[in-house]
Amino acid sequence: MSFRSAGFRPAVLGAAVALALVLSGTTMAQDAQPAAATTAAQPAAAAAPAVAAAPAAVKPGDATAGQAKAAVCGACHGMDGNSADAQYPKLAGQSEQYIARQLIDFKTGKRQNPIMMGMAAPLSEQDMHDLGAYFATQKPLPGVADQALVEQGETLYRQGDSSRGIPACMACHSIDGSGNPGAMYPHLAGQHAQYVEATLKSWHDGTTWNDDVRGKIMPSIAAKLDAKDIAALASYIEGLHSADTESTTQP
Ligand code: HEC
Ligand code: HEC
Repeated sequence: MSFRSAGFRPAVLGAAVALALVLSGTTMAQDAQPAAATTAAQPAAAAAPAVAAAPAAVKPGDATAGQAKAAVCGACHGMDGNSADAQYPKLAGQSEQYIARQLIDFKTGKRQNPIMMGMAAPLSEQDMHDLGAYFATQKPLPGVADQALVEQGETLYRQGDSSRGIPACMACHSIDGSGNPGAMYPHLAGQHAQYVEATLKSWHDGTTWNDDVRGKIMPSIAAKLDAKDIAALASYIEGLHSADTESTTQP
């Protein structure tokens, strides 16, 4: 796992900032906000005061209420959000905002998956936030990267490949894979390689999870990745540890 400790390199961060600027120049991140706010505004819990800290004006989730509601999710995602079966994504450590957003996309059928569309159908928006708050408090268990793929995966993750128009993943998902809750960029660190690979492939093949600007980000990136890139990235991501699961401090 020595690739992890190579972690914090100012030069690489500089590149990420530059890329983030390039990306924000296309207004993808900004455009995503109003769209998310509109979706979240639907059947908001009546008495919920708007919370300034949340990106969308919704009542913050209650992790304790969420834990009770999560009993039904545990069969596939694991009670603590660390799924044992690699076809089911880990939810542990994922942000409340991202989880709620995915559940809305499943419920409205924008993100198509027969199992999850059924699971999301009976959930209220408050349920979605409570569930999100619960899984966000759980610790993601890291997986293991394939040493043969780590180098290619790490290079793409941190630097992208400008010759092919591939941005650095860390520009949005952060250097340690912890994501960006405010922008609803998901936590990736430790996610099952099998799930990541299947997800990147389906975007590559034209699947989308939402028709808004934010929903077009990953399909347009994945279109430029070939099968080897996808395998390398998926393996690297599974082996990534976020700062909050690291016992060592970064230099
Ligand atoms: C029978 C198995 C099963 C159950 C039960 C289940 N899920 Fe899922 N879940 C899945 C599968 C499969 C996917 C991946 C869908 C895809 O590939 O788009 C998924 C994906 C998700 C995602 C998207 C994760 C991501 O990283 O994008 C969320 C959020 C989620 N489930 C939440 C829940 C919640 C909350 C419950 C309980 C109310 C639940 N799931 C119950 C199978 C299940
Ligand atoms: C401009 C920001 C941005 C960049 C750069 C970016 N992503 Fe993403 N990524 C997103 C967003 C937004 C989502 C959520 C997609 C949605 O909800 O429709 C996402 C979702 C994902 C997911 C799904 C996670 C889950 O839990 O289901 C994976 C895997 C992923 N990205 C991998 C990558 C990889 C690999 C790269 C680099 C090649 C990358 N991303 C670059 C914004 C970005």
